[in-house]
Amino acid sequence: MTELLRAEEVDRAAALLRAGDLVAFPTETVYGLGGDARNGRAVAAIFEAKGRPHFNPLICHVPDAEAAFAEVLADDRARALAARFWPGPLTLVLPRRPDCRIDLLAGAGLDTLAVRVPAHPLALALLRAAALPVAGPSANRSGQVSPTTAQHVLDGLGGRIAAVLDGGPCAVGVESTVLHLASGGAALLRPGGVTAEEIEAVIGPIARPLPVAAAEATRTLRSPGMMLSHYAPSLPVRLEAASVAANEALLAFGPALPGAGAVFQLSEGRDLREAAAGLFAGLRWLDAEGQRRGLRRIAVMPVPPEGLGEAINDRLGRAAAPR
Ligand code: TXA
Ligand code: MG
Repeated sequence: MTELLRAEEVDRAAALLRAGDLVAFPTETVYGLGGDARNGRAVAAIFEAKGRPHFNPLICHVPDAEAAFAEVLADDRARALAARFWPGPLTLVLPRRPDCRIDLLAGAGLDTLAVRVPAHPLALALLRAAALPVAGPSANRSGQVSPTTAQHVLDGLGGRIAAVLDGGPCAVGVESTVLHLASGGAALLRPGGVTAEEIEAVIGPIARPLPVAAAEATRTLRSPGMMLSHYAPSLPVRLEAASVAANEALLAFGPALPGAGAVFQLSEGRDLREAAAGLFAGLRWLDAEGQRRGLRRIAVMPVPPEGLGEAINDRLGRAAAPR
């Protein structure tokens, strides 16, 4: 049985984390699957509950920059970015400190660690009450669509984890931006809630490696999360749709193309923030509705690649990638 906890029950959620149990919690991006990042058994249980390949390292969530920089070595760029974007949807990958308390498995054995201070008030309340660093991948089964409500979490992980702390729907809707700062240069490992342009305004130009195929990712290991197929609904996904068939479900952006068997509107007025916030809920809804109505695939209208559109197109590209 997975307990569904209300915001007032944050202390109960914190007690479960301290006892080594797994608790899914809301962040401004997506729900995270939390466990004590210092506790190897809790960390192993996260991988097990997600069905996640062990090579894929986890983000460590902390309540403030001071707690983050107690575990990793921060340079001037990291401090400037933390001051500008934390709490918020930016994850920094930095070298582990020699006295880092985070379990090695949480970092998949790498000498770097991903840290982030989430902006959701309930996430911060939980991190403060638990008073420990919380390892937290998105709270979905590995490879599936990330959850943006407590119900999404229960749909995928119900019965596998101790509790879900319900904070309502997530405001940003796509995961944090992952920025690698460990080796001289700065590289965008995953586009996300903070845009590349916003980061470059603080630290100057950053490299943007392209997603690589899964095999390549396991070999290079720089960011296993760059695997091509990810965020995948059950139905196949077709991108850049200019027209739509009656046996297709449509993910619309702007006025919907006519003729689809089911439609989910990301943003009638073409607002990228609104589209990001609804992206994963839309994919989940179209997947369920499409299967119920016997539709063949999900067709997606083009989304412009600027700003948050970079993160949206990254997730859509993975949802459409060969499985
Ligand atoms: O918005 C988010 O980031 C959400 C919420 C819950 O905070 N979390 C999330 O975690 O999306 P997850 O585990 O699904 O994605 C973490 C990403 C993966 O792409 C992983 O490969 C990368 O961060 N990552 C983590 N540690 C890394 C490291 N040391 N080096 C390179 N990439 C790392
Ligand atoms: Mg994920």
